[in-house]
Amino acid sequence: MTDKLIENPLREGLVSRATPGTCAIVIFGATGDLTHRKLIPALYNLAADGDLPPGLSVVGFARRDKTDEVFRQELYDAARKYSRQPVDDALWKNFGSSIYYHRSEFSDEEGYRRLAERLAEIDQERGTRGNRIYYLSAGPDQFEPILSHLTATGLNKTADGAWARIIVEKPFGVDLQTAQRLNTEVNHGFKERDTFRIDHYLGKETAQNIMVLRFANALFEHLWNHRYIDHIQITASEKLGVENRAGYYEGAGALRDMVQNHLLQLLCLIAMEPPTDLSADSIRDEKVKVLRSLRRIRGEEVFRSVVRGQYTDGSIDGEKVVGYRDEKNVNPGSMTETYVGLKILIDNWRWADVPFFVRVGKRLPKGGTEIGIHFKNAPGVLFNRDQPSARDGAQNVLVIRIQPDEGVSLRIQSKVPGASVRIQPVKMDFRYGTSFGKASPEAYERLLLDAMAGDATLFARRDEVEEAWRFIDDIEAAWRDHGTEKNLAFYPAGSWGPAESDALIEQDGRGWRRL
Ligand code: BG6
Repeated sequence: MTDKLIENPLREGLVSRATPGTCAIVIFGATGDLTHRKLIPALYNLAADGDLPPGLSVVGFARRDKTDEVFRQELYDAARKYSRQPVDDALWKNFGSSIYYHRSEFSDEEGYRRLAERLAEIDQERGTRGNRIYYLSAGPDQFEPILSHLTATGLNKTADGAWARIIVEKPFGVDLQTAQRLNTEVNHGFKERDTFRIDHYLGKETAQNIMVLRFANALFEHLWNHRYIDHIQITASEKLGVENRAGYYEGAGALRDMVQNHLLQLLCLIAMEPPTDLSADSIRDEKVKVLRSLRRIRGEEVFRSVVRGQYTDGSIDGEKVVGYRDEKNVNPGSMTETYVGLKILIDNWRWADVPFFVRVGKRLPKGGTEIGIHFKNAPGVLFNRDQPSARDGAQNVLVIRIQPDEGVSLRIQSKVPGASVRIQPVKMDFRYGTSFGKASPEAYERLLLDAMAGDATLFARRDEVEEAWRFIDDIEAAWRDHGTEKNLAFYPAGSWGPAESDALIEQDGRGWRRL
């Protein structure tokens, strides 16, 4: 693998560090939602754009009994529903024939031996050259048996010149201890450089653009520090409720589900120092330093810096929706949080005393993820004399919209046309859709392609995951120690979260941005 950036000749705009290599991708838990909604649509779109390496094959490994044909038909139906581009039947015929189904229990060693034989046949038929990607998309309780059988049957080993990589889906443990155990198991069979821990937010186009915005422009980096930035807001808001994932979500909650991974990753991209080069390790080294500099939130501090909430019944887009406790498979007395708002401080030179306000919630009025960089006010000498507060709209705000309607906008002050000098904030707006005239690839397209290319830049490294858990574990422990009853606030579905979250940011003299 080379660290030099090369243009992928197959798709304009998609820059990959190395050419994706052909392989067989074995998806464990292939009958699940992820395969249908994300993985197969992503692979189909790559095929449609001509980006898939020739011969690439997919083997679905799962417990249910079914034939290749039935499996292909199910995935075809799913692709028609979830694919970014409409499914072309002729193209699907070809793509669909590269998909196989392998029935086995996850704990049955014989099933893995049969898998090895099947993969050898696929190598012969389709020229996949012994290269493998194992994709762990089964329930997290199955990770251990899958990993140990892969290793016991030698499937983690490859012939000369071939490679075997592992992609691990979240949840990557439920705390530091379980994450460390999982890391040890993964690294028992696979080297760190062959381990790809998915955080699909890193695959989102605008998340990738954060580094470009910061380090390919002369404008921002000088201002990117405590001298010029007042505070930063990171918001991930969803209209959806828990849907059919209560089994997982009840034990996780919003802090583990979204903050430990996606939001801390975004925070790292915003806060990190410029890496020495663009290699996966240089970038991840810088991100880890940010995680290590997070001021830990412990004990009573949790009440001042973190708000947790749960949605009650309400309405979204005029439609009545039930409260979290009435959702399918949710404990009627559940204390799980579906909303978190928190204030994070980074104890390093660049970010001293700059609060990062982070909020994430389900059943909020609008779906959207964005990062707002709020600059300090200009000196109140000529024009801003009467606007000293950080809440009055006089600040320049750089907004990075991760989704939807990806883009970047800058709020500046402008004179309102007319004889008097009246000043009003206006927005300079860059939208991907308008500027580039085409839809961005889905996060999973980029990530799967990078895994085929062996480029781990957009995947979380072991130490990143563990450092993030250290930070989260303190908060979870404080909640536990003080009793979750004491610190769960409620908010009606369709509102912007509990009033306590507004108070959290207002006590600092700031206010949440309206999305
Ligand atoms: C997942 C979480 O990782 O991200 C979900 O488990 C959440 O709870 C989802 O809904 C949000 O992803 P996206 O891409 O829709 O913002």
